[in-house]
Amino acid sequence: MISLSLMTSNPGKLREFRHELSSLGIEVTKSSEDCEEIQAETLEEVVRYCLKDLKRRKIRDVMIDDSGLFIDSLGGFPGVYSSYAFKTLGCKGILKLMDRLDDRKAHFSCCIGCLLRGGKEIIVTEGVKGRISAEERGSQGFGFDPIFVPDGESRTFAEIGIEEKNPISHRGRAIRAFAITLTGKVERTK
Ligand code: IMP
Repeated sequence: MISLSLMTSNPGKLREFRHELSSLGIEVTKSSEDCEEIQAETLEEVVRYCLKDLKRRKIRDVMIDDSGLFIDSLGGFPGVYSSYAFKTLGCKGILKLMDRLDDRKAHFSCCIGCLLRGGKEIIVTEGVKGRISAEERGSQGFGFDPIFVPDGESRTFAEIGIEEKNPISHRGRAIRAFAITLTGKVERTK
């Protein structure tokens, strides 16, 4: 059994990691550690900075997830500011910003970083394309799930729920890519 902890205060992220990794025999606990939030231009920069910090503090077997929603007609906003934008504007504020915009294309991106015992690092980034809905729909998931409709769907992430979200989402894809790399790198405990 491999055991890793996830550094997050977001129960939705933790649920999605557990859902995807438990079937692979990877236990995910919640880490109480934290990293200083830096303002960077990409998700990967944020993750790399945090991994460096963890290394310095000798913290191992911890995963980090930095994600964001990028809206084409808003020049990629909120992107790396997604967490702040969700707290201040929320889904309603984003819909208001897009009130008269016809181009509703957007994508979610997720960068996962992990520092393993022995010092090896894994960094993977994956995304999912879609569009911003005209109104909030659904009650499952978290964050911007009620306003994001993935390509090939008519329902939002908040309407389809974790069983259908994980197979196609930015995070589900990143977690699976991460797991493939991990199995080749991990030093197994009993
Ligand atoms: P961070 O990764 O903790 O910096 O947060 C990024 C923000 O993006 C979160 O607060 C959410 O609002 C949003 N976000 C990231 N991933 C998802 C997702 O899978 N669904 C909905 N919103 C998300």
